Amino acid sequence: MSEAIRDLIQGVVDGSLSDDELTDWLRGVCDEGLTEPETIALTKEMRDSGDVLEWGSEISGLIVDKHSTGGVGDKVSLVLAPALAACGLLVPMISGRGLGHTGGTLDKLESIPGLKVKMDAEGIRQQVESIGVAMVGQSDALVPADRRMYALRDVTGTVASIPLITSSIVSKKAAEGLSALVLDVKFGRAAFMVERERAVELARSMVNAANGMGIHTTAVLTSMDYPVGCAIGNSLEVLESVETLCGSGPDDLEELVCVQGGLLLHATGMAEDAQTGAVMIHDSLQDGSAFERFREMVKAQGGDTSIFESDATLMRGLGLMDPDLNTTELSVGNTGWVEDIDAMAIARVCLGLGAGRARLGDSVDHSVGAILEVQVGDRLEEGEPWMVLYHRDEVDRGTIEGLLGSITLSDEEVRPESRIEEVFD
Ligand code: URA
Repeated sequence: MSEAIRDLIQGVVDGSLSDDELTDWLRGVCDEGLTEPETIALTKEMRDSGDVLEWGSEISGLIVDKHSTGGVGDKVSLVLAPALAACGLLVPMISGRGLGHTGGTLDKLESIPGLKVKMDAEGIRQQVESIGVAMVGQSDALVPADRRMYALRDVTGTVASIPLITSSIVSKKAAEGLSALVLDVKFGRAAFMVERERAVELARSMVNAANGMGIHTTAVLTSMDYPVGCAIGNSLEVLESVETLCGSGPDDLEELVCVQGGLLLHATGMAEDAQTGAVMIHDSLQDGSAFERFREMVKAQGGDTSIFESDATLMRGLGLMDPDLNTTELSVGNTGWVEDIDAMAIARVCLGLGAGRARLGDSVDHSVGAILEVQVGDRLEEGEPWMVLYHRDEVDRGTIEGLLGSITLSDEEVRPESRIEEVFD
C-alpha cells in the first residue's frame, strides 16, 4: 500500500494522474476510509511532495507549532506563538486565511500596517533562529500535493473525510520540521466539525498520524458555541491579542493559550508537566516577555510597531482601527445573566460586514467586526450595551434584529465553564 500511495502522490505532483483518476481515488477514501498505517503513509508522502524545513540538531527538539480547526474570534495563535518563543521554544508558524464564517491568522496579522506574511524557507529559518518566531503564509514549495488535492476535494464533495483532513492538515505542519505539535480541535455550532463525536474522531486520527511520524502531538477538544474572547474581526482581534499578550485579556482566551502552550513546553521537556508549562506561559504574558517577542516579530516582518507604543487598550483608533468607521451599540430589554451568545449568528453578520471572505480570493475589510461587552456568565442590566458593531455602511434593521436574538439571558446565575473538554495524546 505504501508504494501505491507513493505512486499516487507522485502522479498528483507531476500531473500524470488525471483529475478523474484522482477524484475516483478520493471518493474511494471517503467511502472506505484508510487504515492508520495508510493514513500515516499518505501524510508522509504528502509532506515529502515539496520542501521540508530543516533545523540543526542543537535546536530541532525545540521546533513546535499549533493548529486550530478554526472558530469565531479564535486569535489563540497570535498570542501563543510569541509566548512560546518567550519561553524558549522556536515557532515557524505557517497559517492560512479565513474562509466563510471562520477567521484566518494571516488576515488578522495583515491588519497591522506594513506586515508581510510572505517568506521563503530560508527567511523563516533565519527569523526563527534569531527571534524564535515567524508567522507566515504557505509558499508554493510546501506540500504541493495538498494544493491540488484540496482544490479537487472542494469541487468533488470529498472534503469531509477524516483521513483526508488528517493528511492535509498534518502534512503541512510536518513540513515545518516540527518536534512537537498541539492541535485545537473544536466542536459546536460554529466549528468545522459541529458534532462532538466527529471532532473526537478527527482529534484521534490527527494525533495518531502526527505521533506516527515522530512528532510529539497532543490535541485539546474545545467547544465552539460562543466566540473566543470578546473581539471578532481582524484588527479588533489583533487589539485583543495585544491585550492578552500584556496580561489583561479575557479569561477564556488566556486559558486556551496557557493550556496549549503548557502541553508544548512539556512535550519538548522544557517543563516537567503541562501544568508547570501553563504557568510559564502565563508568566510570559504577565512579565511582558511574550509581548516583546510579538513586537520583535512584527518589526522583523516589516510591520509598523509604533502602533504598540501606547497602552493596548488605548490603541483603538491609533493605527489599527479606521477612524471613519461607524459604530452601533446593541442593548437588551431585560436584565439577567448571559447564558449563551451564538457565535455562528455573529460570525455571519461580521462576514456580511466584510470581515471575512465568502469565496477564496475575496478581499477583506480589516477594520470591521464586533466587540462583545459581556461574555457567558456576566450579568447584564436592561439597556446596557452587550455588543458594539464596527461597520462601514448602514446596517439594516433585519441584521440588528437577528443579532438581538443571538444573546440569551437567564434569571439564574450562570457559571462559565472551561471550553476545554478533553486532552488526547
Ligand atoms: N483544513 C485543511 O488544511 N485541510 C482540510 O482538509 C480541512 C481543513
